[in-house]
Amino acid sequence: MVQRARRLRGSETLRRTVRETRISKDALIYPVFVKPGKDIAEEIPAMPGQYRYSVDRLGSIFDTQLKAGVNKVLFFGLPEEKDAEGSGAWRPEGIVQRALRWTKEHYREIYCIGDVCMCEYTSHGHCGILDGEQVDNDVTLDYLARIALAQVEAGADMVAPSDMMDGRVLAIRRALDKAACSAVPLMSYAAKYSSSFYGPFREAADSAPAFGDRKSYQMDYHNAKEALKEILQDIEEGADIIMVKPALSYLDIIRQSADTVSVPVAAYSVSGEYSMIKAAGKAGFVNEDAIIAETAVSVFRAGADILISYFAAEIARFINEGRIG
Ligand code: PBG
Repeated sequence: MVQRARRLRGSETLRRTVRETRISKDALIYPVFVKPGKDIAEEIPAMPGQYRYSVDRLGSIFDTQLKAGVNKVLFFGLPEEKDAEGSGAWRPEGIVQRALRWTKEHYREIYCIGDVCMCEYTSHGHCGILDGEQVDNDVTLDYLARIALAQVEAGADMVAPSDMMDGRVLAIRRALDKAACSAVPLMSYAAKYSSSFYGPFREAADSAPAFGDRKSYQMDYHNAKEALKEILQDIEEGADIIMVKPALSYLDIIRQSADTVSVPVAAYSVSGEYSMIKAAGKAGFVNEDAIIAETAVSVFRAGADILISYFAAEIARFINEGRIG
């Protein structure tokens, strides 16, 4: 035998030397849920260990993330009131805008990304403006642009549309450019599948659709070529970073995207992925920490450049400890 694959697995030093996948804390983004009120940090029942915070309590979670080495957050908001136009999403006093202003004032070192969507803010829970029971794509575009602009005016460093309307990237890019915000990058949820893995998030953000589902705008999980079509179109419209979501059941899509495009690829390890690991860990069926580490590395091995994860601080800690990375 000339080739012995085991030769390079003989010690931790050697294994670490020949690792193919290197991961960095710089590539991690943590999603934050913010809600109106004072002194609130309420645990999300379907996502043990994750909380909804009032603006004045954001510091506690930022401190946790910063201490671990995570300095980027993605904001989701629960508005005071919902209406047909999702006005809580685009009003200057909307909850995410308030959170952004507070963060920029108190935590300059936090890089702020705004999730641009309407489902948390509309009374019907759909990701756009309705015409009858259908989401009116083109009418919604103006609203999405308005949300993005409101977030940037409040201090967002980057915007991330997650609604899946056609043409939203161009509409948002144009609105930002017109407002002299051409330097603000846009991360598009380009290949966002219609997924049951979002279940816990919809409880967390109170954003489940009141009727029907999101299948007329989010992607069918039987399709892969369609993801590339969505991604290439978003890049043409001006997306700086594209995203694949969810992550774990879509590693093939991450790989194909990374091989095809020349912009950074982000992957969103969504709420259902988090909650499954938490539940199995709590039951003692798997080693929670080991599963968090292995799944995070798998997303980067598939080709992701950026990982959005509720486990961001844990992953960062594992990197700090030299367990992965
Ligand atoms: C808003 C949005 C959703 C998620 C991110 N942005 C929910 C949905 O599309 O229903 C899901 C995130 C998660 O599950 O962690 N459209």
